[in-house]
Amino acid sequence: MASLTSKPRNFGAYSHYATPCTRTHQIGALFLVVSTFFVTRLFDQWFSESNSVTPAIDLRLTSSNAGITTENGILRWPERGYGSHLSLKIYVYDENEIDGLKELLYGRDESVKTTACLKGQWGSQVKIHKLLLESKFRTIKKHEADLFFVPAYVKCVRMLGGLNDKEINQTYVKVLSQMPYFRRSGGRDHIFVFPSGAGAHLFRSWSTFINRSIILTPEADRTDKKDTTAFNTWKDIIIPGNVDDAMTKNGQPDVRPLPVSKRKYLANYLGRAQGKAGRLKLIELSKQYPDKLECPDLKFSGTEKFGRTTYFEHLRNAKFCLAPRGESSWTLRFYESFFVECVPVLLSDHAELPFQNVIDYAQVSIKWPSTRIGTELLDYLASISDKDIEGMISRGRKIRCLLVYGPDSASCSAVKGILWELQRKVRHFHQSTETFWMHNGSFVNRELVQFSGWKPPMPLP
Ligand SMILES: *[C@@H]1O[C@H](CO)[C@@H](O)[C@H](O)[C@H]1NC(C)=O
Ligand SMILES: *[C@@H]1O[C@H](CO)[C@@H](O)[C@H](O)[C@H]1NC(C)=O
Ligand SMILES: *[C@@H]1O[C@H](CO)[C@@H](O)[C@H](O)[C@H]1NC(C)=O
Repeated sequence: MASLTSKPRNFGAYSHYATPCTRTHQIGALFLVVSTFFVTRLFDQWFSESNSVTPAIDLRLTSSNAGITTENGILRWPERGYGSHLSLKIYVYDENEIDGLKELLYGRDESVKTTACLKGQWGSQVKIHKLLLESKFRTIKKHEADLFFVPAYVKCVRMLGGLNDKEINQTYVKVLSQMPYFRRSGGRDHIFVFPSGAGAHLFRSWSTFINRSIILTPEADRTDKKDTTAFNTWKDIIIPGNVDDAMTKNGQPDVRPLPVSKRKYLANYLGRAQGKAGRLKLIELSKQYPDKLECPDLKFSGTEKFGRTTYFEHLRNAKFCLAPRGESSWTLRFYESFFVECVPVLLSDHAELPFQNVIDYAQVSIKWPSTRIGTELLDYLASISDKDIEGMISRGRKIRCLLVYGPDSASCSAVKGILWELQRKVRHFHQSTETFWMHNGSFVNRELVQFSGWKPPMPLP
């Protein structure tokens, strides 16, 4: 897996804040040392004592590879989840298994074609599903699954008129009420993909039904049109936007990058204004500095419409690709830039990026305040040397495999990154407000009916 080591941080900058060391400080330090010693002793004792009473907490009831294990009195976290290798089991619901699931995939009369849904920036909802079906981490046994994947192409289905908002909401609720495992965990071990800026808001009543589930979305902020964001950093996962396959093909993109010195513009912004302040300012700026900033008026229909190839040919012709926010925070241009080897400049203050635990975005991109879009930004970009730009580009080349929806069998791919993130979400134990458990490992509902006897439709929150 690709990772970038950060440059050493400059602590020197803070040194003038340090106050002189007084007698009070010395006493304080001594106290800290002593108290740390006692607290550590206390913990050691506590662990060895709790160890000696472990028979009361019978870990043997749990499966062998999960749960906390103690070795010589030292508490160990499970290797899985925090460890060095991927080991998880994901159940992918079958479209024929649950009444309504087919509608979420192909629309009310099953007329929406998957090939159409595979293309464009929302293709990730199809790709993740297909790649999980092929994954070696897929299981066909629900009882052994760590996580459950609920496939749906609703963003595409809605765009193509296959379902309206009301139907999407009702169909989701119908589907969920047929899933005993969803009920058992309150949805905590169930995964949903929402590939667009609306995030989980695509399912109107998401906050009632799936607000404990794991949501995969490129959008971590949706506070502009709705009062609440559907993203929760503790349980959800940011995924990359789906870059055109023609550009991510291994080593052979349809449009190849240009040498930095051969690029005509300092920066570009390729996109419509959509009445957004930041975008309008950029278009204004390009009229002032037409030889520095390229902002072509993109037509999305008619004879002047940019073809896919033309679009990327423009994108590669600048050193910096500006990615301002649009309808929502996330922007596909940020991801596309890596494949024409243009340094992305994020102009979207609330945007959040995928795989931040392995990618140090400060090494491969720039984020500039959207409130300061103007001549100042162009001057700043012009001050960066080609050598520095090439450094960012070559580091970007190393990490971009994580932005490509390839299989988990590849050494580096977006799906592999997602699986690592998912593994960290695996919980050994799940429960909902309507789940109860007994002394012998039996799960029951409020009526004390054993889990195996739960019958759909299941009451939902
Ligand atoms: C979504 O569907 C459920 C079940 O039919 C319903 O109770 C709920 O009110 C709907 N939500 C919205 C926002 O329409
Ligand atoms: C999830 O929804 C339930 C029911 O609407 C609500 O009581 C709860 O506070 C929500 N939880 C979170 C984490 O938003
Ligand atoms: C666990 O105990 C309950 C209550 O005594 C009983 O109904 C159930 O069958 C037991 N489950 C197992 C797996 O033995």
